[in-house]
Amino acid sequence: MARILSISLSKGGVGKTTTAVNLSAALSISGRRVLLIDTDTQAQAGKALGVRPEVGLADFILGNAKFEQALVEARPNLHLLSGGHRLAAVKQVIAEADMRQEETLAHALSPYAQYYDYVILDTSPGWDNLQINVMFFAQEILTPVNLEALSLDGLIEFTHRIKEVSRYHPVELRYVLPTALDRRVKQTEEILPQLDGYFGDAVCQPIRYNVRLSEAPAYGQHIFEYDPSSNGARDYMELTRRIVHDE
Ligand SMILES: Nc1ncnc2c1ncn2[C@@H]1O[C@H](COP(=O)(O)OP(=O)(O)OP(=O)(O)O)[C@@H](O)[C@H]1O
Ligand SMILES: [Mg+2]
Repeated sequence: MARILSISLSKGGVGKTTTAVNLSAALSISGRRVLLIDTDTQAQAGKALGVRPEVGLADFILGNAKFEQALVEARPNLHLLSGGHRLAAVKQVIAEADMRQEETLAHALSPYAQYYDYVILDTSPGWDNLQINVMFFAQEILTPVNLEALSLDGLIEFTHRIKEVSRYHPVELRYVLPTALDRRVKQTEEILPQLDGYFGDAVCQPIRYNVRLSEAPAYGQHIFEYDPSSNGARDYMELTRRIVHDE
């Protein structure tokens, strides 16, 4: 059975897409079959992998394409269901569903999860009916937190939302990942212990600030292609090891 892992936090610009893309890449390199699903209208995940598919998640959910037609093989072992502005129509369809609105996505995608070892979801910031649908499909949540701009309150509120969903569907906050860590920033040293205190073992070894991670998407490459010897590549490989260890 596939592990269905969503990279989520309501806050923007914390490293969700960077994590979704590079974790998916590392898992696929390790031989796992990965489906990366982008539920963001900005379609950044595809751009980061250098593909701009004409079709994607929206076409599949709206019934305009079969599953196999809607995805692209971005890399060996790495399939992508792209995001894009047509997801607005999906939100409309969800809002108009007569029953079980929150399970629209899960209902459509669940039959296909069995073909993969991992389903990774890259999500948009904010909290709308599509995000709620993602929570009802995912089993595990990985939350990237940017230490420099961390609002612990916002993070705790987000965990309450996951708890609320978990009353109806088994989903848990499994990983909290500090991103863009810079130990020279004083605030970082104060916040890390707070994070440990609150989330304990769920806190992963941080991803260091690494400019190579921010350069790679412009070349349509993941970090293991763009600069495999960078700290960014090392840190995402370490994260992948930890996640695979929990299989
Ligand atoms: N560890 C890092 N070191 C340096 N830059 C990083 C790191 N992680 C992410 N970035 C950069 O920070 C910016 C935001 O990252 P990213 O797009 O992954 O965030 P996001 O949470 O997906 O944003 P959004 O909420 O808009 O979808 C990007 O320019 C990205 O390249
Ligand atoms: Mg993003």
